[in-house]
Amino acid sequence: MADIKNKIVYQIYPKSFKDSNGDGIGDLRGVIEKLDYLADLGVDYLWLTPFFVSPQKDNGYDVADYLAIDPRFGTMADFDELVQAAAAKGLKIMLDMVLCHTSDQHQWFQRALAGDEKYRQYYILRDGRHKKSEGDPGEPPTNWQCAFGGSAWQWEPRLGKWYLHLHDVSQPDLDWTNPQVREELAKVVRFWKERGVAGFRFDVINLIAKPEIFADDTKGLGRRLFADGPHIHEYLRELVQKAGIDGMMTVGEMASTDLPNCVLYTRPADHELSMAFSFHHLKVDYKDGDKWSLMEPDMAELKRLFADWQTGMAKADGWNALFWCNHDQPRIVSRLGDDKKYRVESAKMLAACIHLMRGTPYIYQGEELGMTNAGYTSIEDYRDVESLNAYRILLEQGKTEDEALKILAARSRDNGRTPMQWSNQKYAGFSTVEPWIPLTKNYTAINVEAAQKNENSILAFYKTLIKLRHEMPIIAEGDIRFIEEDNPHVIAYERAWQGERLTVLCNFRPTSVKLCHATLQDFAGSQKLIGNYPGREERLRPYEVLVFYSRT
Ligand code: NOJ
Repeated sequence: MADIKNKIVYQIYPKSFKDSNGDGIGDLRGVIEKLDYLADLGVDYLWLTPFFVSPQKDNGYDVADYLAIDPRFGTMADFDELVQAAAAKGLKIMLDMVLCHTSDQHQWFQRALAGDEKYRQYYILRDGRHKKSEGDPGEPPTNWQCAFGGSAWQWEPRLGKWYLHLHDVSQPDLDWTNPQVREELAKVVRFWKERGVAGFRFDVINLIAKPEIFADDTKGLGRRLFADGPHIHEYLRELVQKAGIDGMMTVGEMASTDLPNCVLYTRPADHELSMAFSFHHLKVDYKDGDKWSLMEPDMAELKRLFADWQTGMAKADGWNALFWCNHDQPRIVSRLGDDKKYRVESAKMLAACIHLMRGTPYIYQGEELGMTNAGYTSIEDYRDVESLNAYRILLEQGKTEDEALKILAARSRDNGRTPMQWSNQKYAGFSTVEPWIPLTKNYTAINVEAAQKNENSILAFYKTLIKLRHEMPIIAEGDIRFIEEDNPHVIAYERAWQGERLTVLCNFRPTSVKLCHATLQDFAGSQKLIGNYPGREERLRPYEVLVFYSRT
């Protein structure tokens, strides 16, 4: 089993990380250029989101060839060089495997369209309901909705059937009940393992096992019927075994999952994955569970979720992936922090809050700078298929353009996809030409060069957190217990390990608050391990984080 507990993963979205060849699109050689920066940050693994051949309808999560690199991002020689150059600096590469669906441009789907029976059986094809005659599509087989809005079914005359796509219409779902599909996908994973990859992230992997009977979801949009579906654990164990990746660093993206399944996905005894991403904590500001309805974050719910997942996974030997940000999420400092007056304080507090929990922390590019949401004000600025669909649907529902743009400004995935801010030069040092997606205007102040000159920067704080996890077994191995449970403003927990204790106090408010069950005087004899303000006061200051260490 890879040693995962004291490791830190850095997520790279290559398209927006660094453009090395002046076409406005980030690429693999851009990542090579920045390896020194990443090694200096101190992270262990680099997870790169997909750079395989793709029509880029969903920015690479629509894979047309799993075994070839999209020329936009570079060549296989660039990839091999990246693996080697990274290893020379102590960095390991993790790849993103999109095995739930392919692009409709993948040769498997193209062959299915051409009538090849073998490949028709790679996908999930069904007759419509209420057909009046042969050749009549009828209605979609079920009422399931796709993740990007609208039916999850598409009628395709060349197939004479509806095909299932849980994401964009250009992303047909693969049929995992077909052993040949499972075999082919295991070969794909093995191929990359043999090229020197040290780990894998599996995209929406808990959606691969569809229900045995396809029926309408009478209570929702279908998700609960196909998340963590039948045979999912069997399929994962088989994949791990056939691809030969047992013991490697692996993480599954688990959509709409639950705690008992995540225990099974990650408990070492089951030989499935090393850890799981779950998303409940990033839905506490969805009104009625709807991403496109704005609401203030529900702090009580956030606290409850952390307590349940942290202690529940610990009790059953499961392991969490710890994260606030990725390429599908708005920036956390704009969401749960304050991206203006207290940007630095709140970014540091949010970082410490998650990094000192039990699990493996993930840093998403730019998070270590406190990068903020994009601040786009025109629909022309957006690129993401989900955001563009949502905008159309919001207008259809009667929202004004301003209202819809306000919602996108808070919720769009493009908030996390703006170019990495390397310097205050034109195009933020990301490229020498206009990037494929507009920059966030604040790059002139928020950038790597500026952060490197400031010993109190958010970047410096991240480096300290990384070092602490590497050096202190209590952070990697300790038990966890949540305290201040009825305090609505503070997330607080204690870690304990072999007579050592770490207490983490995080104020999520822009005002000073007091603790309910302790006073800061109680920690007079403890060492302040890390914090985002000098010294300590009676009350926690706005967005203050205080971490105390003691030996009992
Ligand atoms: C999750 C990925 O993170 C997201 O970017 C993508 O759109 C969907 N899976 C579909 O592959």
